[in-house]
Amino acid sequence: MEKILIIHGPNLNMLGSREPELYGSETLDDINNNIEARAKSHDFYIETFQSNSESELVNKIQSSLNNISLIIINPAAYTHTSVAIRDALLATAIPTIEVHLSNIHKREDFRKKSLVSDIVVGQITGFGPFGYLMAIDAAVNYIKLSR
Ligand code: DQA
Repeated sequence: MEKILIIHGPNLNMLGSREPELYGSETLDDINNNIEARAKSHDFYIETFQSNSESELVNKIQSSLNNISLIIINPAAYTHTSVAIRDALLATAIPTIEVHLSNIHKREDFRKKSLVSDIVVGQITGFGPFGYLMAIDAAVNYIKLSR
């Protein structure tokens, strides 16, 4: 079975209590459980990973070479700052889908710029936790089409 890696960036471990008016009331565990169920319904495995550390996120992306078919990533605040995460995605060349809970284009100017949006397959932004389920469906479709 093919495996999809879900990477959650900094502060997403605080979902549920963190700015719920922006990010909703589901915890990261709730979100991961729903992602897993969606992937299972397509006969796909997932692995989930969260870190507040840029270097750990880069290491995780690098270690995915050869065993991950596609990455779904919410780089959170690093979306707007991390050349290192961008370069790690480029280095592994694993197809990637970018997800944001909030619509980054409707927020402060500094959030409108993503350093990964021009190198990913596509971006899903503004649909809350449901965006991850959209991303799983899109990932499965993408992987099947590229077989
Ligand atoms: C976010 C948007 C980012 O600007 C912010 O730093 C986050 C979450 C989102 O999912 O909406 O931590 O990536």
